[in-house]
Amino acid sequence: MKNIELLSLEDYSFQNNDFAFYFKNLYRDRGIKAFYQFLNRPHRRSFSRSIIQKYAPHGIGLEIGVGERTIAPTNRTILSDGFSEHGEGQSIAQVYFKGDEIPYADETFSFILSEHVLEHIANPIKSLNAWIMKLAPEGKLIIILPHKERTNDVHREITSLDHLISDYENDVPFNDPTHFDDWWNKVVENGLMPEHYKHIAKEELINTASIHHHVWTDVQIVELFEYLGMEIIYRNNHLHDRRDSFAIIAKKKTN
Ligand SMILES: C[S@@+](CC[C@H](N)C(=O)[O-])C[C@H]1O[C@@H](n2cnc3c(N)ncnc32)[C@H](O)[C@@H]1O
Ligand SMILES: [Zn+2]
Repeated sequence: MKNIELLSLEDYSFQNNDFAFYFKNLYRDRGIKAFYQFLNRPHRRSFSRSIIQKYAPHGIGLEIGVGERTIAPTNRTILSDGFSEHGEGQSIAQVYFKGDEIPYADETFSFILSEHVLEHIANPIKSLNAWIMKLAPEGKLIIILPHKERTNDVHREITSLDHLISDYENDVPFNDPTHFDDWWNKVVENGLMPEHYKHIAKEELINTASIHHHVWTDVQIVELFEYLGMEIIYRNNHLHDRRDSFAIIAKKKTN
């Protein structure tokens, strides 16, 4: 990583009351509907939270692309984002950097969590290499992503591993416009534009990483992680508390 000043974990103010923090941001985002969600078990994401606690029970973690809400244990997770404008409110991140330029020392984190972010990153292998580098040996990569068949990408083609390798070899930048037309034609033209992007002007969609560059199911992500030398330790292709999503947890092998 070139000339990036590193941040210290001591400078981060962790949020102690995880659930109060979650609910405060849910209320900020949803207003009165937050109370309905509070009473509705799947919306509290207790299942997804429990798998994070089970597979990453200790240590400091980093969330990439937190957006407006998190299911991370906030008493030990740094909430980061690449962009503040995501969603109707602002991102709740305390620190901002792009997913491939992480300003913490290598092998710092016990886990890296990222939910619905990798599909917004034009060069996923470049970012994943950076995430893996920041994980301690045996650190866990916890990835939750929209499943092609259960999201607004349903009319698009699945992205192959070869395509990702070629994006990496071509050093594609974060605002690569290559997939914009495919996304526009198959998502927006089919009336599937997500509500939370409607306030962003068309010409800004690429610069704010608002489109899904690539489209996957759990099968391709397992293949990708294995290609990157990670060991798959958990796979769930249909998270019942985020129904459009699948989750994969992989472990960094010891050197
Ligand atoms: C669909 S939102 C997901 C927000 C939240 N994690 C969730 O699950 O609701 C995508 C997030 O990825 C962030 N993002 C996009 N590209 C990024 C990048 N290159 N580096 C870091 N964050 C990025 C955006 O700022 C946004 O917060
Ligand atoms: Zn691509």
